[in-house]
Amino acid sequence: MKTGQTTQTEVRNSLDEPISVHWHGLLIPGEVDGGPHQPIAPGATWQPELPLSQRSATAWYHSHVHGATARQVQMGLAGVLQIDDGQDDARGLPSDYGVDDLTLVLQDRRFTRRGQIDLSLSMPDRMMGYLGDTILVNGQVGAAAVVPKGMVRLRLLNGSNARIYTLALSDKRPLQLVATDSGFLDQPISLKTLRLSPGERAEVLVDFSNGRDVTLTSDHNPNTGMMGGMMGGRRQQTGRFSVLPFAVDPTLRARIKRLPSDLGGSRPNGDATSATWRRLSLDMPMGMGMMFGRDDRRFSINGDAYDMGKINFHVARGAVERWTVSADMMMHPFHVHGVKFQVLSENGRAPQRHNTGWKDTVLIDGSVDLLIRFDQPAPPNAPFMYHCHILEHEDGGMMGQFTVG
Ligand code: C2O
Ligand code: CU
Ligand code: CU
Repeated sequence: MKTGQTTQTEVRNSLDEPISVHWHGLLIPGEVDGGPHQPIAPGATWQPELPLSQRSATAWYHSHVHGATARQVQMGLAGVLQIDDGQDDARGLPSDYGVDDLTLVLQDRRFTRRGQIDLSLSMPDRMMGYLGDTILVNGQVGAAAVVPKGMVRLRLLNGSNARIYTLALSDKRPLQLVATDSGFLDQPISLKTLRLSPGERAEVLVDFSNGRDVTLTSDHNPNTGMMGGMMGGRRQQTGRFSVLPFAVDPTLRARIKRLPSDLGGSRPNGDATSATWRRLSLDMPMGMGMMFGRDDRRFSINGDAYDMGKINFHVARGAVERWTVSADMMMHPFHVHGVKFQVLSENGRAPQRHNTGWKDTVLIDGSVDLLIRFDQPAPPNAPFMYHCHILEHEDGGMMGQFTVG
């Protein structure tokens, strides 16, 4: 999608159940945000106009019907959206789609013996979110990539319901982080590992100029270690696993040979002193009903489970707020609609390096301070959501909504 213009979209629901299409990462008004308040009935068509004026970024879209999001995304209602401000060549970045600019959606699934997606939720799945035993890249099992002998850009999206990836390259060559959720950094950040939680995007450059093949790997899901033992999880995974092998084909044209030093992006550096302060705690169900699977709708924020009929708070348009978001028991990827934000601090310390760019989703491991400016309007009939992006938690009630006006 091009920025600096309005795009007319058309979404037709040819399924026999309501869906919605939320544009995750687009800075657009609440009326066209595609959250739970804009369901598309079976057979109906939705034609929102999307006015885009933000910088280049890798965004995505997915269904967001309350209570059905996890299942619908698992079944396939999600995709990637590239926001293009036309400046990539000037930035010296690889931009030859499918050659040196690869879009990679990471997801995990389990399959039944007949090869269908296994939608059943085990007890640990109910608590921690669905974890699969098979990794899919762009919807494929056993995917492999072929790349030129030069710089290659990977636009990574964690489209999994619950799995958190800790990515690295098998020969320890660095991942050069160039963009986070909401756009480019000012300059690349060299990382040995990159943690990517559900809903987050990252763009990295990988240098293949030595001509050697390498595998993108991930460490096991960190939440499994925290809660898995306690829950007696039957699919405990430990250790690294392969996400995607890369093979170098020297006959492919390598357009970019070196790392650009100036990415033309920006890193936030806001002042939180006069910001309104809000505290949000992401709460897990602790009752015995939950443990026996009788009530899976008790996830909450500040003790309130999501209620479509209730606006949790109101924000003045143009206001800047500091949100302290905290969680215990396990880590939760926290997402806010209609904004990009800055991570001010994590557990009282400077943010981790991969969280120093513009974000719309951040993994909460303890307590994280965010600085958010609210520029897009969201009226009471089309509020913005804030929620955990472990989709089973979101469907279970770990979500709230606010208006901006
Ligand atoms: Cu990607 Cu409200 O979600
Ligand atoms: Cu969103
Ligand atoms: Cu969560």
